[in-house]
Amino acid sequence: MQDWMKMAGIRSSEITDQALFKRRRQFLQASAAAGVTGLIGVPGIAAAKDGVPLPEPIIKSEFSTTDELSSKETITTYNNFYELGTDKGDPVRYADRLRTEPWSITVDGECDNPGVYTLEDIMKPHAIEERIYRMRCVEAWSMVIPWNGFALADLIKRMKPNSKAKYVAFETVVQDDLPGVSRNVLDWPYREGLRIDEAMHPLTMLSVGIYGEELLGQNGAPIRLVVPWKYGYKSIKSVVRISFVEEQPDTSWNLSSPREYGFYSNVNPDRSHPRWSQAKERRLAGNTSGLSALFTSKTKTQFMNGYAEQVASLYDGMDLQTNH
Ligand code: MTE
Repeated sequence: MQDWMKMAGIRSSEITDQALFKRRRQFLQASAAAGVTGLIGVPGIAAAKDGVPLPEPIIKSEFSTTDELSSKETITTYNNFYELGTDKGDPVRYADRLRTEPWSITVDGECDNPGVYTLEDIMKPHAIEERIYRMRCVEAWSMVIPWNGFALADLIKRMKPNSKAKYVAFETVVQDDLPGVSRNVLDWPYREGLRIDEAMHPLTMLSVGIYGEELLGQNGAPIRLVVPWKYGYKSIKSVVRISFVEEQPDTSWNLSSPREYGFYSNVNPDRSHPRWSQAKERRLAGNTSGLSALFTSKTKTQFMNGYAEQVASLYDGMDLQTNH
C-alpha cells in the first residue's frame, strides 16, 4: 500500500490484485450496460465507481503538493465535460456513453514523427508517475488531485517537433451521440492549445489515471492534459489529436467568449473574470463535496495557482492582464 493511499484514506482491501482486474472490468462494463448507478445523496448523481487499477509501480513525483487531497468521490462526481452535458453531475451520469476502446491519437503538423498512434504506442515508453497537483477552476472552486501520468515533454521529444513548431494544439474526440455533442453546446471538437515552451514545461503532464486507477470517462478517459498553473479548462480531456503548429491555435473557450477566456488562462487572482472576481476559491478537499463546499469558507487564490516559482519566467515581459 502506498503512503498517498493511506493519506487519502484508501483501505488495502480496496486494492485488488492483478487476477481480479479483468473480472472487475467485465463486471463494471456489465453494470454500466445495465444502467446500475449509486447515489451520493443528490438525486440523479451517480456515486464514484471503482476504476481499473493501473499497473504498479507508480513513481512518486517531486512535483507533488502536500495539500490535503480531494476525495475520489469529489474528483469523480463534480466535473466539467461539456460533451457529456453542462451540469456538474452530467459527466458522471453519462460517462459510460463515452467509448474509449480502441483509442488512437493522431500526431501531425510540424514534426518529424507524425502518425496515428494507438494509446498503447503513446504510453509504452513512459513510466507512470503520481503527481499531486492543485487544480483551480474558473468558477472559483479548486481540488487537489493525485494524477497518474507522465510529462508531456517526454512525448513531444519522441515526436521531434521542428523549428516551425511554436504551439501545440489538442483536440477531444467527437462522438455524435454524447448528450452535449448532440446539443451543440460548444463548436466541437473541444480544442485547446499551449505555447511550445508551456507544453515542454516539466509540470505539464498527460494523465491516464487518478488515485492509481485508469481515468474514468468523466475525468477525460483514456488520456487528458493536465496544466496545474492554468484554469481548469486548459486541461483538455479525451485527447485524440496533437498538432505542432506555427500560429497560435484556436481554443474552444477563446472562440466562444474571447472577452471572458483568453489563450493563456494563467490563474490570476488580480484579473477578474468579467462576471466575477477570481481572487478567492472554495477548496473541495477532504470530505468536502460539491454541495458541502457551499458552506466552507473561501481561501485566497494564489498567483499561477501557487506554481509561480516554477513557471512565472515563461511569461517574462508579458502583460498578463492583456494576455489573460
Ligand atoms: N475537456 C473537454 N473535452 N470538454 C470539456 O468540457 N472542460 C474543462 C476541462 N477539460 C472540458 C475539458 C473544464 S472547464 C474543466 S474545469 C476541467 O476539464 C475539469 O476537469 P475534471 O472534471 O477532471 O476536474
